[in-house]
Amino acid sequence: MGRPAPAGGARLRVVSSRTDSLRGNAGRESVAVWGRQWLFERVRAHQMGGIGLQMRPLGQSGIQASAIGLGTWAVGGWMWGGSEEAECIRAIQASLDTGVNLIDTAPMYGYGRSEEIVGKAIRGRRDQVVLATKCGLVWWDTRGTHFFDKDGNAIYRYLGPDSIRHEVEQSLTRLGVDHIDLYQTHWQDDTTPREDTMSVLLDLKAQGKIRAIGVSNVQVAQLKEYQAVGAVDSAQEQFSMLDRQIEAELLPHCRATNVAVLAYSPLALGLLSGRIGPDRKFEGDDLRQGNPRFSPENLAKVAAMLEEMRPVADSRSLTLAQLVIAWTIAQPGLTHALVGARRPEHAAENAVPGDVVLSDDELAVINGVIERHRPGLA
Ligand SMILES: NC(=O)c1ccc[n+]([C@@H]2O[C@H](COP(=O)([O-])OP(=O)(O)OC[C@H]3O[C@@H](n4cnc5c(N)ncnc54)[C@H](OP(=O)(O)O)[C@@H]3O)[C@@H](O)[C@H]2O)c1
Repeated sequence: MGRPAPAGGARLRVVSSRTDSLRGNAGRESVAVWGRQWLFERVRAHQMGGIGLQMRPLGQSGIQASAIGLGTWAVGGWMWGGSEEAECIRAIQASLDTGVNLIDTAPMYGYGRSEEIVGKAIRGRRDQVVLATKCGLVWWDTRGTHFFDKDGNAIYRYLGPDSIRHEVEQSLTRLGVDHIDLYQTHWQDDTTPREDTMSVLLDLKAQGKIRAIGVSNVQVAQLKEYQAVGAVDSAQEQFSMLDRQIEAELLPHCRATNVAVLAYSPLALGLLSGRIGPDRKFEGDDLRQGNPRFSPENLAKVAAMLEEMRPVADSRSLTLAQLVIAWTIAQPGLTHALVGARRPEHAAENAVPGDVVLSDDELAVINGVIERHRPGLA
């Protein structure tokens, strides 16, 4: 489950293509930051056995997962305007090449497509991966709580024991593995007693089909109900510079009870990458279409906020996206950031801040910028 073996030629090629691509796409940032010497040092450090990504425990499970994980919602294409399988496989492999071991997926991400693509990408590298997937969003059953309709499907939140037993087998098959490292309830279902859900999860753990139990999109009261039955190792929740609701209650509770907290959408769906400008067109069913956060006015305001952080980023030779990720994993109790990527250059870039520890002074500067700008942002 540890870091990959020292890099081979394939890994060097990934790093090189990242540079070319960033040169093409990122304008002033790439020229200023991604210099040849810097790249040489990174590649050399990588050849010596990894770039020193921080590893952190997943609750009480005994599993160590990289502080930066790869999120694969967009890999499934669903709600992201589609995706290109071969490029997604390269993205997942680029992430593993940098030393990231935590990969998060879910059946719902493309009705199984994301899990299938992850399965193809990790074939032959299973021992390098902490594989996280989920259960509890179903489109083939009408038990539980109706959530929403999409693509002609009625999607329900359902965590009944027989359904979870069915789901875990489906996921194992799609992923092509014999066990899942972290199995998470995706959204909560109040029609099934929490005790029944937790009992089946504990049973799956005893059978060796899953190694750790996680929850997602949970209230503190719901989490306590699970914890009354057995150990919960992680909570996966929305968290970014713009989405800090969990700081009030959930985060302190998780810290106090040794539950890892995995931030999802830490770049606010790419908004905080600093790379989405007013000309960006979102295709098909991309959920960012029509989202006020991606209006030209808001994009300009976010760009102004990020520009004020650039001196800190530059002083650390980080891109703005990397600085945002470094800030995320520096938040107390926030143990892991799941950063979504479906392009190899994004995946490789996003792993880099995993070896960055921002100082108190740097965090104070960044927090000051957020405080000044947040009230005016969507
Ligand atoms: N439990 C839940 O309910 C839940 C909900 C949401 C997410 N999640 C998990 O959390 C993961 C991450 O969240 P997310 O994917 O929603 O959002 P995110 O990580 O905030 O943003 C991902 C998107 O940002 C863009 N991006 C990423 N790195 C970039 C870079 N270096 N430069 C420029 N753009 C970059 C990409 O958009 P383009 O591909 O369009 O370029 C990418 O698809 C998901 O993949 C999923 O595993 C879980």
